[in-house]
Amino acid sequence: MTSNKNLLAWVNEMTKLCKPDNVHWCNGSEEEYNRLAGILVKKGTFQKLNEKIRPNSYLAESDPSDVARVEDRTFTCTKKKEDAGPTNNWEDPVSMKNTLTKLFDGSMKGRTMYVIPFSMGPLGSKISYIGVQLTDSEYVVCSMKIMTRMGEKVLGVLGNNEFVRCLHSVGYPLVNGRKDVRWPCNHIKYIVQFPEEKTIWSFGSGYGGNALLGKKCFALRIASYMAKEEGWLAEHMLILGVTPPDGEKKYIAAAFPSACGKTNLAMLTSTLPGWKVETVGDDIAWMKFGSDGRLYAINPEAGFFGVAPGTSMETNRNAMLTMQANSIFTNVAKTDDGDIWWEGLTKEEPKKLTNWLGHEWTPGSNEKAAHPNSRYTVPAGQCPVIDPNWEDPKGVPISAILFGGRRAETVPLVYEALNWQHGTFMGSIVSSEKTAAATGKVGELRHDPFAMLPFCGYNMGDYFAHWLEIGKVSDQNKLPKIFYVNWFRKNKEGKFIWPGYGDNIRVLKWIIERVSGSGEAVKTPIGYLPKTNAIDLTGIEIKDDDLKLLLSVNKEEWLRETEEIENYYKIFNNSLPAGLLEELNSLKERLLLYQT
Ligand code: OXD
Ligand code: MN
Repeated sequence: MTSNKNLLAWVNEMTKLCKPDNVHWCNGSEEEYNRLAGILVKKGTFQKLNEKIRPNSYLAESDPSDVARVEDRTFTCTKKKEDAGPTNNWEDPVSMKNTLTKLFDGSMKGRTMYVIPFSMGPLGSKISYIGVQLTDSEYVVCSMKIMTRMGEKVLGVLGNNEFVRCLHSVGYPLVNGRKDVRWPCNHIKYIVQFPEEKTIWSFGSGYGGNALLGKKCFALRIASYMAKEEGWLAEHMLILGVTPPDGEKKYIAAAFPSACGKTNLAMLTSTLPGWKVETVGDDIAWMKFGSDGRLYAINPEAGFFGVAPGTSMETNRNAMLTMQANSIFTNVAKTDDGDIWWEGLTKEEPKKLTNWLGHEWTPGSNEKAAHPNSRYTVPAGQCPVIDPNWEDPKGVPISAILFGGRRAETVPLVYEALNWQHGTFMGSIVSSEKTAAATGKVGELRHDPFAMLPFCGYNMGDYFAHWLEIGKVSDQNKLPKIFYVNWFRKNKEGKFIWPGYGDNIRVLKWIIERVSGSGEAVKTPIGYLPKTNAIDLTGIEIKDDDLKLLLSVNKEEWLRETEEIENYYKIFNNSLPAGLLEELNSLKERLLLYQT
């Protein structure tokens, strides 16, 4: 247990508010996990998968209304509205607390409140922070056991220090004889961040991104606010290590909007002989300066919460091998022999399945087998290419930062920033085309600055300023170099030019060469591009015309792009830092002078 007075007082206060029947302090043991999983099996929330095929693993099917993060129900409650900025939903913290207090009052009746002390990042690392989540969901406790370091050991490290307060209820009290259901939730949902109080209140949803509060709510929204206050970076980035055949390993962090293959890149299987990629993290990076002036990153999470559909031995072998055991699957289909399946898992579709809605499914059925946002929750340590330093409390030194999006036109395969300020500009203009799966016109651009649009816990303009400030106060020679990549460029026939997946190592190779001082480049108005022969294409064939498209800057397209950026920047109003406008104007000037 703990003698942390603030923690005890808070748990007491929240117990009085939520009125659970019992309070259980999680110790984080296997025995506790198995006992809670057993309760979930009894309730029907978990189905045990075939022990012979997928040991110690479970399938959960959510309520069909509770399948994703709910951005329109996500709020940033700062005292001043302008501190939340134009990209967040804002409400006054006092009035929001009033609304939520009514909802949480008695919300855990008939249930147990679990107290989960958890560390985001290796225990005791100077880059890590501790949170405590209160929840009435056993599914959340089991998932937090995989996704974070949790339990008694955390209380020892916490001592009497402060922690991030995370309150969660599915909002389904068992009162007036109400029976529990397989996936309790509430049609009223609130995912609320109070960054100034380092507090999160989440009501009504059991789905991962809304309910596992360590991830998006804490490690991105609250942490980005803390990072701004304290001079570090909390980013929506994967972290990987690349080792050349005869060279030194370098670490890269990379930010991409959803549906751009972040997990695949993090676990890439190289098609270039001798090149090796190892995974530190697939979603979030916390980066602080070391005493040598370099940026060091940790993955604050302990597991992967990945999108299942499309994942296969062909697209991401290492993810498949990670989830062979000790995993939780949510909203995927179940095979007759008690295993899991989703669209894209195998070339041949099974003859018969039970789909995520519990309906019988056969090929050609008009329902999906798995929900498009169905997930696997797996311990990161099971990944066959987990980096040996992934739990190093010092973090890993970052040599390069990548931004990227899904763009059929305009954006080349890869280009390098002229300097940190220009790189910050590149992060601010990250955009991706909507795919057929999303609402809105296919091909329409969605701006997602730094891939942080739904995750920045304060005014995005101030966030840009923070990035610029990092550049001003640090040694430029020690900062990571910044790159922009685009695996999704199409040719005149509308076909993807770049093979992607394991072949992305060819781009990483050029990036590593640039960082090491070799790697040939040409200076263009948008930044440094690889010389035509600087990307290693041994073993693949790309037509000359296509290669030219991949590795060139089209003046007209880019001038149009600058107009588009100018328009998009208007939402930031006065909070847009001068440095970014300066970059936009210089880009325009360079383009106007550009002779191709
Ligand atoms: C995620 C996301 O689940 O970015 O990682 O939505
Ligand atoms: Mn993410």
